[in-house]
Parts: sequence; C-alpha cells; structure tokens
Amino acid sequence: MALTLENLSHIYNQGRPMESRALEEINLVIKEGQFLGICGATGSGKSTLVQHLNGLLKPTTGRVLYKGRDIWTSRVQEIRSKVGLVFQYPEQQLFAEVVEDDVAFGPRNLGCVEDMVKQRVYRALEQVGLNPDVYLKRNPLALSGGEKRRVALAGVLAMEPEVLVLDEPTAGLDARGREALLQMLEELNRQGTTIIMVSHSMDDLARLAQWLVVLRKGKLFLQGTPCEVFAQPEAIRETGLDVPVITDLMLKLQRLGSGVDIGVATPEAAITELARLLRRRQHD
Ligand SMILES: Nc1ncnc2c1ncn2[C@@H]1O[C@H](COP(=O)(O)OP(=O)(O)O)[C@@H](O)[C@H]1O
Ligand SMILES: [Mg+2]
Repeated sequence: MALTLENLSHIYNQGRPMESRALEEINLVIKEGQFLGICGATGSGKSTLVQHLNGLLKPTTGRVLYKGRDIWTSRVQEIRSKVGLVFQYPEQQLFAEVVEDDVAFGPRNLGCVEDMVKQRVYRALEQVGLNPDVYLKRNPLALSGGEKRRVALAGVLAMEPEVLVLDEPTAGLDARGREALLQMLEELNRQGTTIIMVSHSMDDLARLAQWLVVLRKGKLFLQGTPCEVFAQPEAIRETGLDVPVITDLMLKLQRLGSGVDIGVATPEAAITELARLLRRRQHD
C-alpha cells in the first residue's frame, strides 16, 4: 500500500459564510506501483483530493496514510520528498529567477551535494524534453504555458519521488508534447514509480490507468479498472463526463446488434475485438 485515504473529508473556510464542503468521506487505497487515474467534472474535488496526498492540505476529518503511517503524526516534510505533486497551475509551483534554481530546489532541500544536484537537474530537464543548455538560465515565468508545465514537472522529478501525483498535466501541451509526457509517465511507472494522474481526457485515462476513480460533488462515485468504469456509460455521463471515443464507438456498434464487447476503451483493444467479430462473421 503506498497511500490510503480513510474517511477523508475537507471543508474550506469551515465555520465561515463561504464554507464549502469539497470532499466527503473518501476511502481509497492506492497500491504501490499502480497507475491511478482520477476524473470528475470541474469542482468535483480532484485538486483538493490530490493536495492531501503530500500533505499540502490537511484533512478536516479523516486520515491520509503513507505506507501505513498517518502523514500528519509522522514527519510531513519527509512525505513531501517521497510524494511529488505537480500542481494544476504551474505558476503556483515556479518561484525562482532561473530554471536551474527552480529545478534544483528540491534536491538541494533533500541535502544532495552540488554535483548530484546538477546531475539531477540535467536529467530532469532532459526527461521533460527541455534542452538544459537552452533552458537553465531562462526565467521560468517568461516561458510559454507548456514550457512552464515542463519545468514544474522537472522540479518534482528531480526529487526522484516514489509517488508522482499530477494534476491535469497535459493541459496547455500540444499533441506532440502530450504524447511525449504520457510516454514518459508510462516509462516511469514501468520502472516502479506509483503514478496518480488527474485528467479530463478519458482517452488518456483509458490508455494509462490501471485503476480509475470518478469523483462527483466531492464524493467517490465510481472506482474500478477503466474497463469496468467505462462499461457504465450512463453513470459516467451523469457526472458530466464523456466516455472514451473508442467506448462510444463500441456502444454505437452494440446498438447495431453487433454483439461487440463494450468494455473496450483503447484503439488496440478495439482492433482485437473487431477482428474477433469479423472472424466470427466469416465462420457463420
Ligand atoms: N482554496 C479554496 N478555497 C475555497 N474553496 C475552494 C478552494 N479550492 C477549491 N474550492 C472549492 O472546492 C470544490 C472542489 O474544488 P477542486 O478541488 O478545485 O475541484 P476540481 O479540481 O475537481 O475542479 C469546489 O467547489 C471549489 O469551489
Ligand atoms: Mg482541479
């Protein structure tokens, strides 16, 4: 078990007129090495939830456990080096005058010697597709939206976290940048990093997530493998979300009486399923 949420509730501005109940009684187990996807309409509590995972927000009630220990009774600072969070808005994460110092902040804080810091900074920038020689001395706040997002991500990667949490990481990236990022996350996950990704893209979630959580108005509405979740299209649509393009296609084929399996959500799985149907037709 990497992380466990126990009856987690969060109320912003409790007791004040603007009080807002953002999360209610969330119970969730995140296994080590898992790629977990989180989706839900805007305002459903996704960002609030992920900010609890590294102790950026404190539960109003309930607990967050990291490897079985309550993060608020052990050392929260230690958790922040193990669980890296990439914010939804990179501007909130960037603060230094040059990219180099921004990305170096984490490893320096961990007490790495300068040689090691430099190595990690180079590596992290290369990982996110930014040439260190071009970007090291640039001002992070003067970069494009996509570049800022990459620098923010590099800053977290440089800490080499065991768990990587990303809040809508593909926003602001073009198709190529998005594909590169998703492939990098896939690779990190293969190497053992637990990944938790908030996304609006059902196609990305269908492709990457091993487990999927759907939030609705601060509550955990559905969870399961992407196939299990997407096999309930009405429930998904009720939350204001859409199903993946492939699932939509499969549902339409099913309505035509094709006998297709609707628990299929990626292009690769769709090809296998359609080939199976075609073969069966040929036999009939
Ligand atoms: N800093 C904040 N102060 C007060 N209310 C907030 C704050 N951040 C989020 N909220 C409220 O909490 C709810 C969940 O927001 P959020 O976690 O940002 O959802 P999501 O990321 O799914 O869009 C919303 O109703 C939002 O208005
Ligand atoms: Mg959000």
